[in-house]
Order: sequence, then C-alpha cells, then structure tokens
Amino acid sequence: MTAAPGQPVYDVDLYSDEVLRDPYPHYRALRELGAVVWLPRNGLHAVARFDDVRAALRNPAVFSSAQGVAANDHVNEISRGTTLASDAPLHDRLRTIIAAPLLPRALQDIAPQIRAEAGLLIDDLVARGEFDAVTDLAQYLPLTIVSKLVGLEDYGRDSMLRWAAATFNVLGGMNARACAALKDVQEMRAYLGGEEIRTRLRPGSWGDRIFAAADRGEVEAERCPVLMRDYLGPSLDTTIFATANLILLFGRHPDQWELVRNDPALIPNAINEALRLESPVRGFTRHLVADATIGDLAVPRNSRVLLLYASANRDERKWQDPERFDVKRRANNHLGFGNGTHMCAGLHLARLEMTALLEGLVERVAGFELGEPVLALNNVLRGLASLPVRVTRA
Ligand code: HEM
Repeated sequence: MTAAPGQPVYDVDLYSDEVLRDPYPHYRALRELGAVVWLPRNGLHAVARFDDVRAALRNPAVFSSAQGVAANDHVNEISRGTTLASDAPLHDRLRTIIAAPLLPRALQDIAPQIRAEAGLLIDDLVARGEFDAVTDLAQYLPLTIVSKLVGLEDYGRDSMLRWAAATFNVLGGMNARACAALKDVQEMRAYLGGEEIRTRLRPGSWGDRIFAAADRGEVEAERCPVLMRDYLGPSLDTTIFATANLILLFGRHPDQWELVRNDPALIPNAINEALRLESPVRGFTRHLVADATIGDLAVPRNSRVLLLYASANRDERKWQDPERFDVKRRANNHLGFGNGTHMCAGLHLARLEMTALLEGLVERVAGFELGEPVLALNNVLRGLASLPVRVTRA
C-alpha cells in the first residue's frame, strides 16, 4: 500500500512511545492535514475528523471488519470470525448471543448488586482517605463483577488484567509491545479454549449461556471460547481507564466536580464528556472492500484505514472548545464507544459501573487531591496504570 495520488502524508509512527505519551498534538496535525492521511511508518490511511470517522463506522458494507480491525496483518489473520472482526450476517448472529445479557433490561437485575458493591468500596476508600484511583477504585468492579457474571469466579482472575491489556496491545502496529503481548493472548486463548472450561462455569452465567446457545445449534461449539473472549478482553481496561480518567478530570477541574455534586443528574453527561475528552480506545482499523471517497480523496479497495475515535472526539470542526472538560456539554454523540453496527456491546454495563461509583462519590467526597499519574502505555488504549488520590470528605 502507498499514498493515494495527492494524499497528505504524516511521517510519524502512531504506535511509538513518544506518540502514546502525548497523542493529541499528532491527532490535531492529522486533522489539519486532511480527511485521510497516509502514515508510511504504519502502512495505514488515518481518518481523524469526526464526520469522516462516523461515516465510515456507519458504512460497514465498504469499511469491513471481517478481515480484522487491527493495524497488523498477523492479528488480523488470527482474529477473524470474532464479534469484533466480522461482518453481517455472521456478526449479527454472534452479537445477538453475546449482547443478550448486556442489554439494559437484562442489566436491571444486577444493577442493585453493582450499586451495593460500589457503595461498600467507596465507604472503605473514603475511610482510608488516600488510595490509588486505578488499582483500588477503578479495577474493583470490572474485575469482581465481570468475572463473576461470566461465571469464572476467581479462576484465572489474576491473569485477566494482563490478558486484557495484551488483547489491545496486539491490535496496534506489530511493534515490540505487540510482540510481547502475543504470548499473553495465546495464554488467554489456551485457558478459555481448554476442554474443561465449561465445567468451571457457574450454571446460568454469561459463559454458560454461550455454551447453551451452542447446544441449541445457534452457534458452532468451537466459537464458544471466542465469544467468551468478547466478555473478558474488551470489558476490563476500557472501563478501568474510563473510570480513572473521570477521577483525573475531576481532580484537575474541581469546579466541574462541584457542579456534579450539586446536581447528580449531570452524572451521565459527565461520563460522556470524560469518554469524549479522554477516550480509552484510540481507534480501530477497517479494510476497504470497495473503492471509497473520504473527504474529497479516493482511497482504493483493499486499503487499510485507521479510524481514530479519540481524535474525532476532539475535532474542532465538531466540538466547540474541544479540549475543555465541561460536564454540561452535550457530549452524548461522542465516538468513544464507536458507532454503527459494531458500537460497543458492553456500553450499558460500563455506564452502570461508572454511574454507581460516581453516585457513591458525590455523596461522600468534596474534592480530590491528585498525586503523580502514571500512564499505562498500550498500543490501542489510553489510560493510567496508577493515580494516587487523597480525598476530602463531604
Ligand atoms: C468505558 C468502557 C468501554 C469502552 C470505551 C469501549 C469501547 C468500545 C469501542 C470503541 C468498540 C467499537 C469497536 C469497533 O468499532 O470495531 C467496542 C466494541 C465492543 N465492546 Fe466495548 N467498550 C467499553 C466497555 C465494554 C464492556 C464492559 C464490554 C463487555 C462486557 C464490552 C464489550 C464490547 C464488545 C463485545 C464489542 C464488539 C461489538 C461488535 O463488534 O459488535 N465493552 N467497545
């Protein structure tokens, strides 16, 4: 692949440490260069403006996921046929199965339990006064609730965070970080694909329901481990990073925390605004199965296009004063969960977990004093590995 005639070029590796540490000036440069920019170091066409990213996500007949959504050929080869890496009709069949327990009505049953767990956790953390917003606060619900719901209880839990980070690292360019993560991804596959996995699943759990769907002939038996990965891979670090980002933003903008404390009805909007400004998923790729026009540029069939959700969410063409954290902004149409047919299947669960934590915090915390945040370098995710916090009680 090369640049299309007349296409702007940006000679920077978007998966380098330097870019991961501060990606936003690079996203801005890409948006300024044009609607679709050739990245020679990554062999990708980058789409960084809001309207173009959203239009691509809404056009899966041309911007296909069936040949993978990673930025490297190896992972695109081995990941085909997952919910994330498939097109209709296979995608719709798989998505119906995994999305069932993640729909708002199904989540109503577990919402009280999530709120209760969140309340207990926050009581404990506020009593301590100082804690780590990533390891003590943000990791708790995804790790306990999700593994319990999937039905694995404590088995494999110690490895899950490592596996989840690896799942996203291998979806970027095939650099040293991605190569090192391949071993962890293989370990996760071996664990979930093992003969005895079904016997370990709690009856009635999400994992057990996938095997029951196979018993009814709704899905091939060999796809069951793949579908279990849909619950474990994308549900942990995404939600953990989004939660810690909320604390980071409220710590840096006490006036916005004050607004939410005075009016907790702003919580859903604050969550959207944080997902817009600090999107945990930087972007995924699509494979063009037909020639496409992006902006005013023709991009040929068989090209691989990188859709930068995190850049679209700061596009000055779409958002006024895009770098400002404003809990009153109408941010609900951000692309932090993607858009169109592959839009995040777990977004209601993620929102439920974050809402439960914020509802607990607004009652008990007057303000956050932040220590030095430590970035978790990941090829596809952006978020923190650690964020020391001291809280002032309400
Ligand atoms: C704040 C937390 C989360 C964020 C920011 C997030 C982000 C995303 C994004 C951007 C996509 C779109 C992929 C694409 O365009 O190809 C996606 C898809 C997906 N997410 Fe999430 N996610 C989160 C939480 C979760 C949770 C909690 C689960 C599961 C319990 C989950 C499961 C999935 C699945 C299965 C897909 C694939 C859907 C499909 O291909 O149809 N996510 N997520």
